This record gives sequence, structure tokens and C-alpha cells, in this order.
Amino acid sequence: MSLLIRNISNLYTPAAGLPYGQLKTMHRVHVFVQDGIIQQIFSGDEQPPQAETVFDATGKTLVPGFIDAHTHPVFWKTREDEFIMRVQGKSYEEIALAGGGIRSSVRRFREAKKEEIKTLTRTRIKTFLEFGVTTIEAKSGYGLSTEDEVKALEIINELNDEQPLEMIPTFLGAHEIPDEFQQDRRGYIDLIKNQMLPLIAERNLARYCDVFCEKGVFTVDESREILLEARRYGLDARIHADELSPFGGAEMAAEIKARTADHLVQISDRGIEDMALAGVIPVLLPGTTFFLGKDGYAPARKMLAAGCEVALSTDFNPGSSATQNLQLIWTIAALKLKMLPEEILWAVTLTAARSLNMDSRLGSIEEGKQADLLLLDIPNLNYLAYHYGINHTVITVKEGKIVFRNE
Ligand code: NIG
Ligand code: FE
Repeated sequence: MSLLIRNISNLYTPAAGLPYGQLKTMHRVHVFVQDGIIQQIFSGDEQPPQAETVFDATGKTLVPGFIDAHTHPVFWKTREDEFIMRVQGKSYEEIALAGGGIRSSVRRFREAKKEEIKTLTRTRIKTFLEFGVTTIEAKSGYGLSTEDEVKALEIINELNDEQPLEMIPTFLGAHEIPDEFQQDRRGYIDLIKNQMLPLIAERNLARYCDVFCEKGVFTVDESREILLEARRYGLDARIHADELSPFGGAEMAAEIKARTADHLVQISDRGIEDMALAGVIPVLLPGTTFFLGKDGYAPARKMLAAGCEVALSTDFNPGSSATQNLQLIWTIAALKLKMLPEEILWAVTLTAARSLNMDSRLGSIEEGKQADLLLLDIPNLNYLAYHYGINHTVITVKEGKIVFRNE
């Protein structure tokens, strides 16, 4: 199988060896792909080889396929009622304490059949591809019983095999304390450690383990305990940290050398320094701050100044961020995190790939790498955030195959 994308007006990509925020830029080039691998980038005057599929990209811009390194796509019912409650002045925390939020999603998830949830998840996957996303990290976390967490992870693994979007499964059993353990949090943590983790590891259902470390959810000590136990089973750590209050999650993530710490809206200066030193990747989710109607955003510029490589993701979930549009996140990151297009492109491609330990195969347009590509109908990189809220995708390519075409 070969693919030729001809006459690409602009090609922008991060690359191994370049500093974060610096891109390789090429104009009027042809990209030749065979067997899913980028074989060669030809300059406009050169004659590339014949290919089975040829796509003309005159006037268009090619970037690496986007990687969304933090999503919760396996849920049942949506929660637009809570969105309206927030519009009317209730906070996310108040809604959760009153029995809404994650726990309401859990009740509904448990009622639904695996096949029903799988069908819904399949349509969500199509939407990711439409927005140019070729890989996602996908969390469980709406089951919170052994059976239902396994159900979520099975859905991710099974769908991974049957369609083009690549999904990296993360076990998020520590997303909340479920209703039946409200009076026995120790009992729930023991269930995660003694039953869920061994089973999930034995069946190879997840690559990472995540914890919602936040006031009212899991404490720093509980989070550390769960993440260290997960690591004994080969699941590396990601963590929801310091989103709603400065809680010490970032410092702990640095201490245990987690792969990522995510959200970080309320991170302390010490947390930033610790993460930079330990090489923990901050995964920032400004769409969540926006959708929760809050004004304070994660201090991205401070993190960049401290030497962190920042990733950006949607946090797609039914409560705090119901979007799959990383192109919209791009605009929010520009306006609210004051990140520049060159930094944001890193944040949604090569750095996101690094956060998943997949940067040797994914995240940049370089000869020898997997051909995960996104062709955009934009005249230059600055335009993407500027003409906002629409989908600029022309084609999405996963492993050398066109998997979405905007007619
Ligand atoms: O990343 N913070 C925890 N988890 C999600 C919210 C999930 C939900 O509200 O259903 C988040 O924001
Ligand atoms: Fe999340």
C-alpha cells in the first residue's frame, strides 16, 4: 500500500533533536508513504514515485496527526443537565457533592450493556478522526467495580483492534469513591489494589494507571499508594492533580516520577520546579477550565520557563469537558495559556507522544516514522487558532491510510 500527498503548500512538524517550540517548516513538497511508513519527503521540483493513492494538497498544510493524551471516552449517558446547573451558578464541586458528577455517570454506566456503550464509543471515535486525531489515551473510570472497570477497558481494547484510531488504555479505578464505599474508602482502595489491578494486569488491559487526586476525592497519600502499587504490575503513572485546589499532587507526581501530571490549574511554584527537575510532563486541559466557566487557567508560561515540555489535550468526558475538538483547544490554549502556534503543535503531537512513551514511532513527520498525518485547509499555522470553532481537516491519515476525508 502506497500513498502520495502531492504539492503540499506548507509542512510543519516538530522533530527529534529540535528544541520544544521549534518546528521544521517546508513549502511545496511531496510526501511519499509506503506500508504505513513515511519513506521520503521530496521537494516540489523532484519527481516522486507512483503511488496507489494520490492526493493533491495544493494550498493546504500538512502536520502530524494529533495525539490526545487525556480522554475519558467510554461513558454512557451525557450530562447536559449539569451544564445548565453550572450556567445557573452551581459549581462542579457542588454538583458532585449532591450526587451528580462522576458518581451519576457511574450509576448509569453500570446499568448499560457493554455492547450499547461500545456502539456509542464507536461514534465518538469517528469524531476524533474527523478532527484530525490519530491517537488517544483512553481512560476507564465510570465503572468503579471490578466487573465494570474491566467492561470499560475491554471496550477500549476491542475497539482498538477493529478501527483505525489508536487508543492507549489507562485504568482509572481511582476516579471517585463509588456510592457503596462512601463509608469505607479504605475498602475501596483495597479493592483496587487487591482485585482490580492484579486482574487488569494479568489480562493486559491497560498501559497506565491514573488517580483523581483532589480534595474530596483521593488524598495525596492514597494516590501515591495506588500509583506505586500499579507500577509493581507494570502500569506507569498518570495523575489528575491540583485541578481545583493546590493539593500537592504535582509534588508527589515528581517524587514518584509519574509519566504525566494533568490539569495543574492550581499548581504551586514548588510543584512546577519539582516536575521540571523530575521530567514529569504536564498535560494541560484548558478546555476543562473553559467549560467549567472558571477564570484561572494553568500557568503554562511558568511551566515552560521552568523547562517543562507541555502537552495539551481535550479531557473529553461527559462532565467537565464535552469536546473532542483539539483545534478548539488550540484556540483556548493560545488565548488563555498564552502559548504560541509552534508550541501548541508540539503539545498536541510529539510531546503528547512522549507523554505516552510512543515518540519513537509517532508525533512527527520524519522519514522512517509512522505515517499519521493531518492535512488542514489553512494557509499558515497562525490561521488555525484564528478561524476558530470550525473543523479545518481535509484528510486524516492513520498508518498510511486515509481514514477521514472532508467532502
Ligand atoms: O478530568 N477530574 C476528573 N475527571 C474528569 C471529569 C469527569 C467527569 O466529570 O465525569 C476530568 O475533569
Ligand atoms: Fe480527566
